[in-house]
Amino acid sequence: MSNVLVFDHPLIHHKLTLIRNKETTTKSFYETVNEIAGLMAYEITRDLKLKNVEVETPIMLSTQKTLAQDVIIVPILRAGLGMVDGIRTLIPNAKVGHIGIYRDEETFEAKQYFAKLPEGLDQAMVLLVDPMLATGVSAVKAIQILKDNGAQSIKLVCMVGAPEGVAVIQEAHPDVNIYLAALDEGLNDANYIVPGLGDAGDRLFGTK
Ligand code: URA
Repeated sequence: MSNVLVFDHPLIHHKLTLIRNKETTTKSFYETVNEIAGLMAYEITRDLKLKNVEVETPIMLSTQKTLAQDVIIVPILRAGLGMVDGIRTLIPNAKVGHIGIYRDEETFEAKQYFAKLPEGLDQAMVLLVDPMLATGVSAVKAIQILKDNGAQSIKLVCMVGAPEGVAVIQEAHPDVNIYLAALDEGLNDANYIVPGLGDAGDRLFGTK
């Protein structure tokens, strides 16, 4: 069963409150989402693999540690794009793949309309990012696409989650751990997270 980690850190609480506020500007919303994503990534990458390297300091030759595992960030289009820069600030060598999913209006099935993924998914720590884990349907499909392309270690990273979405991921992909900045009350009739923060894509990109 997937573990669910809901972050409990004063900086994350504070920044989440900022982005929940409907008066927050597009600029501030985008910057703050990235700041939260960076703070979360710092903790989520705690189990990245390391290897020893020889480093000659100005004083002596010494053995030190360096990353032995790639990080691949995969935003689900389009709102996931809003979390990428914050993680790349921390991990500048991270590669970035993209997955686009739409909902078939007749069958309600999640369908892929775009996928461009880097090589090395099988060895990397893959961070699948999407600010809102609502019904979980897109994330289930995106995880399947990543697995079909060889990903072994997938972590789902969202700002705000609904219990309904968490349950859907746990059922479909029990091996994928879920990281949230907040777990909210649930979904309303329009499948918006309550209290949530509205439409994350619109708020990130100033569309309506
Ligand atoms: N997607 C969003 O952007 N917001 C929600 O509340 C649910 C899904």
